Amino acid sequence: MDIGGTKIQLVRCDDELRIVDSRRAESPKGKILATAIEMAAELAADAKGIGIGAAGVIDPSGAVAATTEVFPGWEGTNLTEGVGRELGLPVVVDNDANAFLHGEATAGAARGYRHAFGITVGTGIGGALISDGVLLRGAGGGAGEIGHTPGFGTELCTCGARGHLESVASGLSISRRYGAGIRAGLVAERARNGDADAVRVFAEAGAALGQAIAVVATVLDSQIAVLGGGVIGAWDLLEPTCRETVRATVLPTNADLVIQPAELGDHAVAIGAAALARAAGQAS
Ligand code: BGC
Ligand code: NA
Repeated sequence: MDIGGTKIQLVRCDDELRIVDSRRAESPKGKILATAIEMAAELAADAKGIGIGAAGVIDPSGAVAATTEVFPGWEGTNLTEGVGRELGLPVVVDNDANAFLHGEATAGAARGYRHAFGITVGTGIGGALISDGVLLRGAGGGAGEIGHTPGFGTELCTCGARGHLESVASGLSISRRYGAGIRAGLVAERARNGDADAVRVFAEAGAALGQAIAVVATVLDSQIAVLGGGVIGAWDLLEPTCRETVRATVLPTNADLVIQPAELGDHAVAIGAAALARAAGQAS
């Protein structure tokens, strides 16, 4: 299950992580998790387990949501137990970007790399880190929250702070910065039709992503950055300034960093969540 503030996406996978069925819905405000559980009840019948990738900081050791719009009323509760009880199956819950990168490392673009990170650019910006083959989670599940790193101007972020990567380069921010009340996908269309303001908003978002990529790659000495999320559908508009910023800033020892879009596409978070559930089942 991929549970975000904008959409809920469910896939049913076979043992090889191939999608055999799927469901999708808009996220209804205030009852996102309840809706996702309802949708899953049918799809997950006789499944071996359920993986959930959700927006927000989630401590997977207790599967507790710390900060999240997605699980109102669930802050501090054990999601693994709560959702597991409702669906009668073993459940694994993790941050959506963590699920994304785990999926890409298992069956996508980051396969075979021991040092990788992922950035998902959608409504918000998520991030995840793999170092020496291990997905890093940090003290409370917040490791890899690249969207909330500072140094990106002064605009307000969804978290209340100013100048985060997410306040320049997320889908919401692209839409807000362009200013016509249209979604990022439409801003991209205008950019491709030569609208100079739309081109500039994407170029600035691309440069901000490049700056974040350069920082993370330098700190972790990574081999690959995998980019996912709906806004990466406009990678053609982001790529030039993104690559140029990385090229101009990283150490020569990081010059070989591979930067590429995800391979698991629109379902990457959900497939990654299934992969996390599969890994947990194999480990127990
Ligand atoms: C949240 C992350 C999440 C990302 C993408 C951000 O605003 O802080 O936890 O991964 O959005 O959903
Ligand atoms: Na993360």
